[in-house]
Amino acid sequence: MRSRTGRWLGALIALAFVSVASPPSLISMQAPASPARWEEGAALADAPDVNPDPRIVEITLEARVADVEIATGQRVAAWTYNGGLPGPLIRVRVGDRLIVHFTNRLPAPTTVHWHGLRVPIQMDGVPGISQPDVAPGGTFTYDFVVPDAGLYWYHPHVMSAAQVGFGLYGALLVDDPAESFSTPIDEVVMVLSDIEIDERGRLEDPDSGGSTGMAFGREGNHVLVNGRERPTLLARPGVAQRWRIVNAAKSRYFEIDPDGPRFTTIGGDGGLQAAPVDSSTLVIAPGERLDVLFVPPGAAGHELVIDWRLFNRGYGSVEARIPLGPLFNMRLAGPAGALSGRPQAPSRPIEPLSRAGAAETKIELTIAQTVKGEFEYGINGIPFFKNKMLHARPGETQIWHVVNSTAWSHPFHLHGFFFQVLDESGQPVRPLAWKDTVNVPFKSALRIAVRFDEDRPGEWMFHCHVLDHADGGLMGTVLVGNAQPGSTATTQHVHPTP
Ligand code: C2O
Ligand code: CU
Repeated sequence: MRSRTGRWLGALIALAFVSVASPPSLISMQAPASPARWEEGAALADAPDVNPDPRIVEITLEARVADVEIATGQRVAAWTYNGGLPGPLIRVRVGDRLIVHFTNRLPAPTTVHWHGLRVPIQMDGVPGISQPDVAPGGTFTYDFVVPDAGLYWYHPHVMSAAQVGFGLYGALLVDDPAESFSTPIDEVVMVLSDIEIDERGRLEDPDSGGSTGMAFGREGNHVLVNGRERPTLLARPGVAQRWRIVNAAKSRYFEIDPDGPRFTTIGGDGGLQAAPVDSSTLVIAPGERLDVLFVPPGAAGHELVIDWRLFNRGYGSVEARIPLGPLFNMRLAGPAGALSGRPQAPSRPIEPLSRAGAAETKIELTIAQTVKGEFEYGINGIPFFKNKMLHARPGETQIWHVVNSTAWSHPFHLHGFFFQVLDESGQPVRPLAWKDTVNVPFKSALRIAVRFDEDRPGEWMFHCHVLDHADGGLMGTVLVGNAQPGSTATTQHVHPTP
């Protein structure tokens, strides 16, 4: 309780907890031609591919504690992949095979989960279900074919509120060489996150604020773009940018506000959506990705401030909060692009999943207080340590009615399969998109359709991506097919952590 956030969470304890009842001719994309050193302020490291086969990307990834600089003069010993914050940007083409030789040099067990990728269960990185923990000093080789284009990300699935909060996350960009734009564009991958650093310059205790801190979802006191606090990016005047954004923060939602210029969202979690959507701000919940076009306005020398707002994700999330400053600056540099302007926004047809005969399942996101007065989240009132698996037949489509009866919003994430959001509080959600994470606002409900493809049997997790909530019980599993003899799916979970 030393930090600002800790004290503020402490103040929340004094307030009455209100339990809320449920209701409620195109040219091909060119290599980015951005100004020299355009991303100097926020460059992502790459992961050298050691495999000569053009369709195999083979890299090494090492989790270790390393000293990183998040702003000039502000350093912290963070938990990192390959010594950087975030970890390296892994870049593959759709259909490539990715081999990752992983070593754990942390002082704690860990795993790597490939968020959003439709991989076999053995590669999903969930301890006790898909693989054993990787102990300190241990190794594990992840090896799978990458089936879908889009921006994905990777992070641990052991004590993930702590480990992600300490800095363990990285982006994985799956290119589709067939995608093309009507004008040249500059592509920027942005990993948004935050980190909590105490007065002594160390990582804050991940349990600060106790059970109330968990119930709220702890946010860091430094907001980061590609591991830097308020970096300056250079952009070409008049040349459209394609922002590939992932929110890797463990609890924080971002509403990105460029103060004027508009965004065109062309896709999200699982690639391009069915139609583009224009908006003046962008909301991105933890775990989600966005794919947006943005044309920086102004001439060379102009500097834009890309700000963000507190997003109301429930009780205590916007009131009396200390502003943390803008996300980043964008300085226009160099001559205007030859083919400047907004390109035609690409889209792809998405067929609605057939719901004929689809079983409906109610999944209520719940919170309760134990006899000791501690908060405990659950699925249908059952915290994860008492998990009751749901079941699905391979090839079956189900409609999940996700009801949020708590005072906080929850980014609902399903492993292994994409879903389509049908409606939110009865209103249809369009355009259609393939999602793996969707915000379920407090006191509301939505319905998603998911087809459990026959090629990926196994026990798959679903959980809130406010990782404190997941740790606090807001997780469950769905068993697709029958448990394999000898698999841990039939036994009690020994790791009640995401
Ligand atoms: Cu991004 Cu179960 O995780
Ligand atoms: Cu949550």
